[in-house]
Amino acid sequence: MSSADAIAVQGVEHRYGDVTAVGPIDLTVPEGEFLVLVGASGCGKSTLLRLIAGFEEPTFGTVRTAGEPPVPGRGAGLVFQQPRLFPWRSVGGNVALALKYAGQPASEADVDLLLERVGLHGVARRRTWQISGGQQQRVAIARALAVDNPLLLLDEPFAALDALTRERLQEDLRRVSHETGRTCVFVTHSVDEAVFLGSRVVVLTPRPGQIALDLPITLPRTGLAPDELRGLPEFAALRAEVGAAVRTRSEVSA
Ligand SMILES: Nc1ncnc2c1ncn2[C@@H]1O[C@H](COP(=O)(O)OP(=O)(O)OP(=O)(O)O)[C@@H](O)[C@H]1O
Ligand SMILES: [Mg+2]
Repeated sequence: MSSADAIAVQGVEHRYGDVTAVGPIDLTVPEGEFLVLVGASGCGKSTLLRLIAGFEEPTFGTVRTAGEPPVPGRGAGLVFQQPRLFPWRSVGGNVALALKYAGQPASEADVDLLLERVGLHGVARRRTWQISGGQQQRVAIARALAVDNPLLLLDEPFAALDALTRERLQEDLRRVSHETGRTCVFVTHSVDEAVFLGSRVVVLTPRPGQIALDLPITLPRTGLAPDELRGLPEFAALRAEVGAAVRTRSEVSA
């Protein structure tokens, strides 16, 4: 692995009892990459993300983040399908807690800055149930960004949102990840979302998840409006290529 690799997964296989969930997998992710993992339900995407976060230890092989074994709760911001906010704290209080936990300044201005970064204005004092599901997911992303670490791991963060909100959040996450330069690993079932967000898309086979396709996404990261990007012929071609890989692999398991 080179020193610039944010993540190095080598010969990794993970079993739950007799069931092999993922692997063997070799995958290196350079710093600043936006990697999207796509694959059928149960193919091991969340398992792979938990291995990278350090919540699981691989049965075989090694996982390194920034050259070290990952430590759970450190080194990576996490966003899940549900926002998992603390209901007894205000919106701003949830973000402030993440800042404090990371040993960083948590003034009102610091909190507001993070909320603004994910497109939220004037909601810091609200209770978490007084904002919409899409706004709650924005808070979850702000909270993950609060911790000053280089990795952002997102497990189907937009799956529960309506189509319009989902597109807005995709656009904002694409911008934020570019601005912050964080290395992202993003799990989704949506081929369109994968091509829109990723600088690289990896399609996994059905369980045990192995790499079926590893495709660089050669679309411009800046300078184009989201609609222009989605309208490019290259966008359609990449979507077709990823879609074909997902469908072929799903048929194998059927
Ligand atoms: N803690 C666990 N104990 C036993 N088996 C598990 C556990 N977690 C996951 N599995 C099994 O491992 C396989 C991979 O699960 P995983 O959750 O990683 O899949 P996934 O690709 O994230 O699926 P989905 O798209 O539905 O979220 C599945 O067959 C699942 O049933
Ligand atoms: Mg999952």
